[in-house]
Amino acid sequence: MRKSAWYDNIAVLTLTLLAPYVAAGPDPNPLAGCSSFAHKLLGKERTDLRAEAQAVQALLSQIQLARLGPTSNTTAMIKLTNWLLSNQSKAGANLDTASLCLTNRLSPSAYHGRPTFSILLEYFKRPWGIHRMATSLRDACARADSDCELVVNVDNPHEAGAWAEVAEQYKGFVVPVFSANVHEARGYNRAARLARGKYLIIWQDDQLAPSQSSTWLTELLALFQAWPRLAIVGMNTYRLCKDREPTNRFFTTPWNPDPRTGVKWSFVQLVDFAPLVIRASAFSELGGLEEGFTRPGDCGIWGDWELCSRAWLAGWQVGYLYLEGRGGDGHEGGTHTSSNAERCWGRQQLVAASGFVKRFGRDPYQLEVCEKVRQLNVASFDLASPEDCPYGTEATKFGNCTRY
Ligand SMILES: *[C@@H]1O[C@H](CO)[C@@H](O)[C@H](O)[C@H]1NC(C)=O
Ligand SMILES: *[C@@H]1O[C@H](CO)[C@@H](O)[C@H](O)[C@H]1NC(C)=O
Ligand SMILES: *[C@@H]1O[C@H](CO)[C@@H](O)[C@H](O)[C@H]1NC(C)=O
Repeated sequence: MRKSAWYDNIAVLTLTLLAPYVAAGPDPNPLAGCSSFAHKLLGKERTDLRAEAQAVQALLSQIQLARLGPTSNTTAMIKLTNWLLSNQSKAGANLDTASLCLTNRLSPSAYHGRPTFSILLEYFKRPWGIHRMATSLRDACARADSDCELVVNVDNPHEAGAWAEVAEQYKGFVVPVFSANVHEARGYNRAARLARGKYLIIWQDDQLAPSQSSTWLTELLALFQAWPRLAIVGMNTYRLCKDREPTNRFFTTPWNPDPRTGVKWSFVQLVDFAPLVIRASAFSELGGLEEGFTRPGDCGIWGDWELCSRAWLAGWQVGYLYLEGRGGDGHEGGTHTSSNAERCWGRQQLVAASGFVKRFGRDPYQLEVCEKVRQLNVASFDLASPEDCPYGTEATKFGNCTRY
């Protein structure tokens, strides 16, 4: 435990102190003046100044565009001008230097209309569900006042025409890409490359979003904002400690809501598809889903656990948030139909499961991750009563809820 605490502190320190330099590129800024300017600023001062300098640049171009017509809008012009003046005065005397030295990185998430969530879908021959699913997701995002897009890997080229029409009907919400049966791992990786959102929601083509409440979207945002190292949040099933559990857990998590966000969730070792939500930056940094364990056309079971394991090993965290009220489209899922059963749960299970063990080991490595997850849980959450402790039970024959 001492060792992990030390590791944590170093990781956090490294992130806070070095991240802005590291993320700026392999080499420091070649302009000597910029280098010394940037080093004099604290991380927060630097990001604020960058935001102000970029706002000034964006506002100047917007004002210029507005002046060029076709119609000029006085109200809008006044608003833009006020923003311009206040950003200019906040940046103050540093504005010119900041414009030159700090604008090498854009903040794409600041652009209006850029989606917060990109919902990724691997679609194969389920025409009856297209509209219900797309509508349920569009409505869920609207209720949460979230900008979303639905990026669909249409894995059956014969349905390209139908999806082109869907894209037109949904006016930009639906973004199709056409593949020829590449299946889950490659399909989601392809969709992720097209996605413009900050968070990727891996969705399944037989699932409907809850029809009443969209708190799951606002809760996801709260979690990702309050827990900067949380990369993945699963919403289907989970494991607290894979090798000490007979089966997957699901349903509400046992801890009281976390005091940072008021959300009821848990740190977990592994979560599975779908929905599974991941920061787009983390997905890209981790290299996406493992494509080597499956052939094109085969299902991608194990890809979810494999991704979670890499996330933990890269210093990210994984959590579970129970999603209430998710619906199905009333038809059987493709992974479990008899024609695919042998390919999927026979061949694929054999190859991927042994690949997983080769990569991540068994005891004692697996249990070390379990212990890390347990420590995060007992340090971050309280229990309403001791009997709610999920550890040291039939479902999880590992650990206990003792804090220290
Ligand atoms: C700076 O401009 C942005 C719009 O680009 C605006 O949202 C923000 O409120 C402005 N900042 C200040 C301090 O006025
Ligand atoms: C003018 O701009 C304001 C503020 O951006 C907006 O609310 C309004 O709809 C615009 N009016 C017209 C006629 O475009
Ligand atoms: C709880 O777990 C800790 C850490 O694994 C262990 O040291 C302690 O003995 C356990 N307590 C009980 C009551 O089993």
